[in-house]
Amino acid sequence: MMNEKSIRMKQAILQRKSVRTYMDKLLTQMDEEKVKHYLAQQDNGKGPFGNRVKIVLQSAISVEGQKIFGTYGVIRNAPAYLIAQCSPKRYALIDCGYVFERLVLFLESNRLGTCWLGGTFERHKVKVELIDDDWIIPIVSPVGYTREKRTLQDMMMRQMAKSHMRKSIDELFVCGPNKKIIQDESCREECEYLRWAPSASNQQPWRVWFCDDLVHFFVKRTKGYGKALPFDIQMVDMGIILAHYQAIHPGSVYEILEDIPLWEGCEYIASSRVSKEVDA
Ligand SMILES: Cc1cc2nc3c(=O)[nH]c(=O)nc-3n(C[C@H](O)[C@H](O)[C@H](O)COP(=O)(O)O)c2cc1C
Repeated sequence: MMNEKSIRMKQAILQRKSVRTYMDKLLTQMDEEKVKHYLAQQDNGKGPFGNRVKIVLQSAISVEGQKIFGTYGVIRNAPAYLIAQCSPKRYALIDCGYVFERLVLFLESNRLGTCWLGGTFERHKVKVELIDDDWIIPIVSPVGYTREKRTLQDMMMRQMAKSHMRKSIDELFVCGPNKKIIQDESCREECEYLRWAPSASNQQPWRVWFCDDLVHFFVKRTKGYGKALPFDIQMVDMGIILAHYQAIHPGSVYEILEDIPLWEGCEYIASSRVSKEVDA
């Protein structure tokens, strides 16, 4: 039986959209406390592969009244930002994607808008103390109240990334030993909650293979994509899909298995055993 949290997460998945235009309004004290309380929970800062991801909430304006976050005009009026830091290693970035998307869905279910930013923010301007010298800030996100009327730049960004669309279920998901198209209706419904995940430039690099009692997650890279960034952004995308799978199967655990058959053009990431669902 599906629990209440799982239902809320499913709604949040289908409702969430990147918000780049905000109302000119500070976070209420209650909302700020809610976010801080969420971030203070140790479990909310740990990914399925055991890596820590530290996220802090910062006001968008300094005490001197200066704008702290540069987003090249992409984000308008956000009152605050969430800043994530983690190790740049492969599975730490996956954990970062997982942890941050769970936060995004939590905020969405509390009517707070967000927008993943991995490229269009001025990284050097972000001031947080790093946990470790080799840690990085892969992602930030504005957080605030959505303004329905979008700026022109916002509309253009959505149009460029075709954000209102996703690849078809048959392109992203397969089943059985011979990687056939999925026919089962309940499995196809599940895929809807996966394919509406956000991804950098809406590249949707995730490929998912349902095989017997295992679900395997692969990445199909966009050649050359993200090369200018100091980290592997498509690993962050992979963490996001794992967060969506976890949201609809709250008991799931991820394992990196050996001897998983190849999927041409893809790299293996991890698998989950189809298990009895537990209340999260
Ligand atoms: C890892 C990651 C990085 C992203 N970086 C940016 C960014 O730098 N600038 C931006 O405007 N949008 C960014 N996005 C938002 C995507 O463009 C957006 O999620 C995608 O187009 C799908 O649209 P939707 O989120 O409204 O469903 C990023 C998304 C992800 C997941």
